[in-house]
Amino acid sequence: MVSVYEAIRRRRDVRAEFSGEPVADDVLLRILEAAHHAPSVGNTQPWDFVVVRDTGTLDTFAEHVATARRDFAESLPADRLDTFNPIKIDGIRESGMGIVVTYDGSRGGPNILGRHTVDDTGLFSAVLAIQNLWLAAVAEEVGVGWVSFYDEDYLTELVGLPSTVRPIAWLCVGKVTAFQQVPDLERFGWRQRRSLSDAVHFETYRA
Ligand SMILES: Cc1cc2nc3c(=O)[nH]c(=O)nc-3n(C[C@H](O)[C@H](O)[C@H](O)COP(=O)(O)O)c2cc1C
Repeated sequence: MVSVYEAIRRRRDVRAEFSGEPVADDVLLRILEAAHHAPSVGNTQPWDFVVVRDTGTLDTFAEHVATARRDFAESLPADRLDTFNPIKIDGIRESGMGIVVTYDGSRGGPNILGRHTVDDTGLFSAVLAIQNLWLAAVAEEVGVGWVSFYDEDYLTELVGLPSTVRPIAWLCVGKVTAFQQVPDLERFGWRQRRSLSDAVHFETYRA
């Protein structure tokens, strides 16, 4: 089993490297269990996971995402469009499986220990479940690609979410041929990783 540091270093957002080979049910369960062990504000566990393998649903969602990609492309100035054009932004069909991660802000009722001051902590908790899932997937040699090119109401309807439940991610999840060593957005010249020294501040932000 890889160390946590190794999983963090190897993790990639996967778009083009899905092999199409199905993920075994026991592997899927271990990955979901890792997600379900995330910390959460007031121990509310506000996440749910909708596993989508129906090819009709995958096709329908892929079409929707293609439209959202076109809308984004049309919003770009010419130089950014040239950089963006070759970048693949999803592997919805190729992965063979989507996991819709959702957030239920009503879970736990009105008196959430720790969320009374910062309401977003509920959402933060669900995102931590995604990071757990992502790293566990690496340990299982499974790739994950986060897709956010969608209309929330559309995805809500597509997977039948109740009104209190918000979709926060469509994750393409599948076996991979390899993990890229460099993030796609760096390889294609969209944006580079900042240096650690730019991100770390001591005592105050400006220091
Ligand atoms: C909240 C969130 C939304 C993202 N949405 C997309 C997306 O819609 N399409 C895509 O290809 N990648 C998406 N990504 C992946 C990022 O582009 C990727 O994490 C980043 O470029 C760094 O690459 P790495 O994850 O391989 O290190 C998303 C990542 C996050 C955290």
